[in-house]
Amino acid sequence: MSFEIPNIGDIEELLDQLCRATGNFKQDHNDLERIAALKAARRLVQALEKPYDMALMTGSSPVQPLCVRIAIDLDIFKTLTERDGLVNLRNWPRSRTRTLCSQVIMLHLNIVDSCTLTSTFLWIERVLRILAGAGYVVEYDIRVYAANAMTRYMSTPGAVAVLKFGFDVCMPLYAKAPEYFRENGFQTPLESNKGLFQYVEKTEESMWSLLFKNQENMDEFYVHMTGRKANRPTWIDWFPVQECIIDGFEDQEGGVLLVDVAGGRGYDLEIFHAKFSDVPGRLIVEDLPQVLEGMTLSPGIECQPFDLFEAQPVKGARAYYMKFVLHDWADRQCHQILQQFKGTMKKGYSKLLIEEVILADKDAEPIPSLGDWMMLAVHCGMERTRSHWERLLTASGFQVVKFWDPPYPGQSIIEAEVS
Ligand SMILES: C[S@@+](CC[C@H](N)C(=O)[O-])C[C@H]1O[C@@H](n2cnc3c(N)ncnc32)[C@H](O)[C@@H]1O
Repeated sequence: MSFEIPNIGDIEELLDQLCRATGNFKQDHNDLERIAALKAARRLVQALEKPYDMALMTGSSPVQPLCVRIAIDLDIFKTLTERDGLVNLRNWPRSRTRTLCSQVIMLHLNIVDSCTLTSTFLWIERVLRILAGAGYVVEYDIRVYAANAMTRYMSTPGAVAVLKFGFDVCMPLYAKAPEYFRENGFQTPLESNKGLFQYVEKTEESMWSLLFKNQENMDEFYVHMTGRKANRPTWIDWFPVQECIIDGFEDQEGGVLLVDVAGGRGYDLEIFHAKFSDVPGRLIVEDLPQVLEGMTLSPGIECQPFDLFEAQPVKGARAYYMKFVLHDWADRQCHQILQQFKGTMKKGYSKLLIEEVILADKDAEPIPSLGDWMMLAVHCGMERTRSHWERLLTASGFQVVKFWDPPYPGQSIIEAEVS
């Protein structure tokens, strides 16, 4: 198949691939089949797209997220979801418009008659046109809109926080990235205090230090984290917790079964506790003191303030679980973090369980590849391939026991022990 200019033969073959993939998905509803179908659909779109149109689309691509961001400010998703039916732009609820932007909008909507389009009216329509084209709302008729599944999803706090983080925090960094990389010789930053975030914010502090100076931003960040995880299966749905962690646990007084290292507000440990409520051993969530302050967890889960760059305070636990932590840091900082487990983990007994996205060496999926850029921009971190994880862990005195892959697209678990 030629990948230069698609001809009818290419398109037929791509269509065949798409039909096969969607057929498989319809048959067994396996999420991996859904991803294969999505990939085939994307290849078909790429074959149909003309290069100059694709360049135009790329050049204007920030418009879509900015319209979604504006729609959040305008309560567009909430309004359509609450109406649960068709909404004519002319009858846009007045009470909602009050929360939109200002009195000016109220005024404009009040004076709209059937033939006059005021500038605000036109402006909202320009936003909705983009949202409809991108599938965020349904354009039922001329200036008549309705909610779809995406609209309803975008009216949830988790989705709003994910979008706000991507747009408000990451977009300004992406805008400066070409300038930063030109000045830094187009290299992956090696130190976490000299990255794009620090370049743009003119600081040597990490994103965490700045974020946690403001309680509201910190709370918003954990809503964002919860939003990223909501509706997705978790590791305990597929990982052999019983065989790998619970069996073999030395049930002595004060024995610790599981530590969630930099576990944030305890989301993952709560899920673990709900499923394995009867298991012996202590469950401990660790994070920075300001994160844990005032946090309420289910009875049976303890909090331990700590710093990733200081000696691990909980000694000899059966398992230390770290989710979405090491991808926040450059290799050098990961090495320092891993060193803190030395003298803490009991050889042949304690396990390190790292939950992260593992990037494919070839044909990487868009979501993890984009996540890699988010890590790069915000933290000087990265998503890593298997071979990269092996190198990093080996150099830090660990040996990989096994890479455990989930039966659906998502994060893997890297099981490691001190070597
Ligand atoms: C991306 S979040 C992941 C949180 C949690 N594991 C999860 O998956 O929701 C990274 C966590 O690292 C914590 N963190 C950042 N710097 C830290 C440090 N120096 N010491 C301890 N925790 C830190 C943050 O507070 C945050 O909760």
